Amino acid sequence: MMETVVSGIRSTGKLHLGNYYGAIKNFIKMQNENRCFFFIADYHALTTHPKPDDLHGNIKQILAEYLACGIDPDKATLFVQSDVPEVSELYLLLNMNAYVGELERTASFKEKIRKHPDNINAGLLTYPVLMAADIIIHKATKVPVGKDQEQHLEMTRRFARRFNTIYGVEYFPEPDAYNFGMELIKIPGLDGSGKMGKSEGNGIFLSDTPQAIRKKVMSAVTDTGPTEKGQEMSEPVKNLFSIMDVVSQKEVTDHFREKYFSCEIRYGDLKKQLAEDLIVSLTPIREKLNEILADNKYLARVVKEGGEKARESAARTVREVREIIGYRPF
Ligand code: TRP
Repeated sequence: MMETVVSGIRSTGKLHLGNYYGAIKNFIKMQNENRCFFFIADYHALTTHPKPDDLHGNIKQILAEYLACGIDPDKATLFVQSDVPEVSELYLLLNMNAYVGELERTASFKEKIRKHPDNINAGLLTYPVLMAADIIIHKATKVPVGKDQEQHLEMTRRFARRFNTIYGVEYFPEPDAYNFGMELIKIPGLDGSGKMGKSEGNGIFLSDTPQAIRKKVMSAVTDTGPTEKGQEMSEPVKNLFSIMDVVSQKEVTDHFREKYFSCEIRYGDLKKQLAEDLIVSLTPIREKLNEILADNKYLARVVKEGGEKARESAARTVREVREIIGYRPF
């Protein structure tokens, strides 16, 4: 069935291996069969107060990275959130029926308060409302989200349902999480715990040079090595194998697993192999990325056309929503 899919990514840094294998590779498949909207959430990015020069640079970087990975602007609508001001109007309208209590109870908000008590701004509080506006403005039916965004999607459904109930309409669909039809690939970080992220300094970026990749992998956390045959792996070692499962040939991963379980493994060899296999996987993307980053004309055309397509869809919704709410012409 043809779904309307919406996915946003905050423009707060470069994309890493986890973004690619966890999400973007699936987007490339989805864009063939669905009506897809992929956008760069540069309004959401303002909650952390980026410097003006950084804001633009980050948007450009992610846009180019999406294109380098294979998101096709002729198949999907690829756009920048702030090019579609209609979303801010829908956000305002939805805010009137979003309750401070429920927003304060959001897990991501509570975490922000804990981590950044000096910057608890209203934009953070209403972050889920803006995200709901992003999604329902295109009447999305599916949203590909990771675990950390499930609650936001739940709130999106609630805001959509609430609107329908208040006005006695069946206007907004309630979007579900996109089911990739296979197990979600999670890429762990190189620092021994947790998943790969951009802030933790534990990741491999799509734009990393071969030298940078070698350096990061060689200094990844391991342990002192197995001392008993068949010994279970520690978290950091398991993580290196998980990354290897994604980028290396099966014979290679089998070989190193065997070495591990027979206590003959040398982590240095494993890391060298992993680094080279990462380089093989990422080099085509990095080369394409550099080409695209140098082609401002192309980037300008992509955002212009994407923005126009997204605005068309968004403007229709806002027009209809205004009518439903009771804004009428004289
Ligand atoms: N909140 C998402 C994140 O931090 C980004 C996002 C903004 C988004 N708007 C969205 C994701 C709409 C999906 C749909 O990752």
